[in-house]
Amino acid sequence: MDSTNPRMSAEGLDEYAQRSEIHIQTEGSQKELRLVGDPLGGRELQQCSREITFTNDLKERRMSNRSLKLGIFGFGCVGSGLYETLQASKFKRAEVVRICILDPSKPRTAPRDLFTTVPEELLDNEDIDVIVELIDDAEAAYEIVTRALRSGKDVVSANKKLVAEHLEELIQIQRETGRSFLYEAACAASIPIIRNLEEYYDNDLVQKVEGILNGSTNYILSALQNGGDFDSVLNEAQEAGYAESDPTLDVDGWDAKFKLTLLIAHSFGLVVPPSSVPHHGIRYITPRLQRIARERNQRIKLIARCWKEDDRVRAYVLPSFVDSDEELFAVNDALNGVVVEGAFSERQYFRGKGAGSLPTGAAVLSDISALTYDYRYAYKKLNSDLEFENDFPVCVHLNGNQSGPLPIYAFEEVFGTFRSVKESYVEGRIGIRNLLELLETGLWSAALLSEQTLQSLEQDQSSILAVSH
Ligand SMILES: NC(=O)c1ccc[n+]([C@@H]2O[C@H](COP(=O)([O-])OP(=O)(O)OC[C@H]3O[C@@H](n4cnc5c(N)ncnc54)[C@H](OP(=O)(O)O)[C@@H]3O)[C@@H](O)[C@H]2O)c1
Repeated sequence: MDSTNPRMSAEGLDEYAQRSEIHIQTEGSQKELRLVGDPLGGRELQQCSREITFTNDLKERRMSNRSLKLGIFGFGCVGSGLYETLQASKFKRAEVVRICILDPSKPRTAPRDLFTTVPEELLDNEDIDVIVELIDDAEAAYEIVTRALRSGKDVVSANKKLVAEHLEELIQIQRETGRSFLYEAACAASIPIIRNLEEYYDNDLVQKVEGILNGSTNYILSALQNGGDFDSVLNEAQEAGYAESDPTLDVDGWDAKFKLTLLIAHSFGLVVPPSSVPHHGIRYITPRLQRIARERNQRIKLIARCWKEDDRVRAYVLPSFVDSDEELFAVNDALNGVVVEGAFSERQYFRGKGAGSLPTGAAVLSDISALTYDYRYAYKKLNSDLEFENDFPVCVHLNGNQSGPLPIYAFEEVFGTFRSVKESYVEGRIGIRNLLELLETGLWSAALLSEQTLQSLEQDQSSILAVSH
């Protein structure tokens, strides 16, 4: 094809693609076509109605890369961290044009003339080609992100609630507009898990992803390990800045569940509403449960897990006993950890800061940097034949200080029971919905049994009781 002749018909493009053995990726509603893997170096093409026009030599652009003009929403913990990482890093292809905040009187660590309280100064600014959304209000964030994408800007966000609750729509808008929406910082902050699932684990069949995805709850559970009651440890965590003044999203497991929803989408190609993922937080982890963990040389962690069984995907966020030989046992305090199990790569483990100004800012910066080479999630695993299942059995230790009967009726199989004046418990297999109903009464606390406990139960089957219903 003659590259000096910039115009060609859609049919001509097809013919050229076939001849050159290249793949044409359609972006948006037929507005943009891109040549992928062009053996001659590639050229980016744009389609204006029925005609295709060369706009840029991609080879040239690859060498120079795109420079970005940023409009940032939010300059709190993450926004100011991003600004600091931008100043400190050698990455100079992004310029901050404007920053939108709520309160103009707060002291800031960036030049005052960058700040505004008027969102339109960013959203309607044609100089700005990337909106970085780092605010703490998911509803306002939804408006900002969708408006920015629809007006032709690329968007980076750290907001897991926004992404988890609107992922299907956000994927659709990306397809319609051809713009890129990246959110690495929204899941386990500095741990690069989304892009790895999307790219590295593209060909390896992911079997399971599990992790500690919430630093606040991990900090609280680490402190509870050494004794102490939940309320005083929560107070300490709030004073140390590890927990929000309203800790509900963290301690009740919502935050981890939003992040798990993203892992499910990028591991298995299923976009599920967060409401369909079973979860329970750590508010009722009692000293009795911690004592049992210590006696078994285990630790209680809030584990977010999704895995594949045949053609089904299951997931939950639940407190769990973790054996000392497991990777997540050593993830303490405010750290996060993620283990990915692939069919061929087997177990791989990431550990790092799941929150904090600079670690989260660094993850946002990595997304911004990826935009310089027009990176976007391809969501290649979507439309799989897998089905999401949200009621299935789990093996659990259910513990309470009840003098009444143990809720054996709710179990499918009982491994053991215990009763004393102060404490009673039952260990066994129970449907996750039944378990959540029992926990909602506030009379019981629970943690999933560890692998080692299950193995030892398997070796000694004498105490197992099948429950007839
Ligand atoms: N903190 C972390 O370690 C962490 C880690 C991973 C992900 N995230 C996510 O990152 C996002 C930001 O968290 P953060 O901790 O940085 O929050 P933050 O410290 O509370 O800061 C929020 C910022 O957003 C601004 N803001 C709020 N509503 C706004 C609106 N409607 N328009 C413009 N600005 C608005 C606030 O303005 P003022 O300064 O004027 O009040 C403030 O600068 C959240 O989605 C959070 O879940 C945080």
